[in-house]
Amino acid sequence: MLIDTHAHLDSARFDNDRELVLERAKEAGVERILNVGFNRETIPSTISLAEANDSIYAIVGWHPVYSIDMQPQDLDWIRELSSHPKVVAIGEIGLDYHWDTSPKDVQHRVFREQIRLAKEVNKPIVIHNRDAHEDIVRILKEERADEVGGVMHCFSGSWETAKLCLDMNFYISFGGPVTFKNARVPKEVMERVPNDRILIETDAPYLAPHPYRGKRNESAYVRMVAEAAAEIKGITLEEIAKITTRNAELCFRLPQK
Ligand code: NI
Repeated sequence: MLIDTHAHLDSARFDNDRELVLERAKEAGVERILNVGFNRETIPSTISLAEANDSIYAIVGWHPVYSIDMQPQDLDWIRELSSHPKVVAIGEIGLDYHWDTSPKDVQHRVFREQIRLAKEVNKPIVIHNRDAHEDIVRILKEERADEVGGVMHCFSGSWETAKLCLDMNFYISFGGPVTFKNARVPKEVMERVPNDRILIETDAPYLAPHPYRGKRNESAYVRMVAEAAAEIKGITLEEIAKITTRNAELCFRLPQK
């Protein structure tokens, strides 16, 4: 039994076969999926998906790439949705210095506002971090994000950065890249992260694991991430499934199965 802690199954790339994708996830032992809505279009589609499927939960927030578009009423909207019974976290929020679609100062403001919101409504946060390790850690510290904690989604940083995040009460989540043959750093980081702080995810439709690299990702493939984790940790797939499921239940306060 596995949990895909980060997916975008509301994406148009699943419009032709979403039911089959959900079926394949079930067949692969993926019992629960956390779907992430991150802007004006994907937040409503994420909520609808979660309302229509018992096995799907919602995470809502404003992605840093769209920071420039966020209006004050959007923050109010996210605050209202945070009390929806299927909403388990605020995200994905953070900083993205790769795409550079929103100025850094705007990204910082929107990130800080959403950390404060998460603390106000007492929900964990899901962090998107692209090429912004230092500023992410600094802002999380300054805003005392450790009071809510959460997860570093699809973590791609060094062990030093991971350690700083662990110290702030965050889980470290790994996706498809940890299955790539040449992924030396993610494998090393995963080996060192304590078992009780590891999560697994797909980020579907992005970042498909080996041997589907470059293709559309889907929640069933979180199994390959789990297999890689079992190998790196030197434990069985059953053990890694149990550990990561328990971690996800604690991090997102999901009903325990
Ligand atoms: Ni994502």
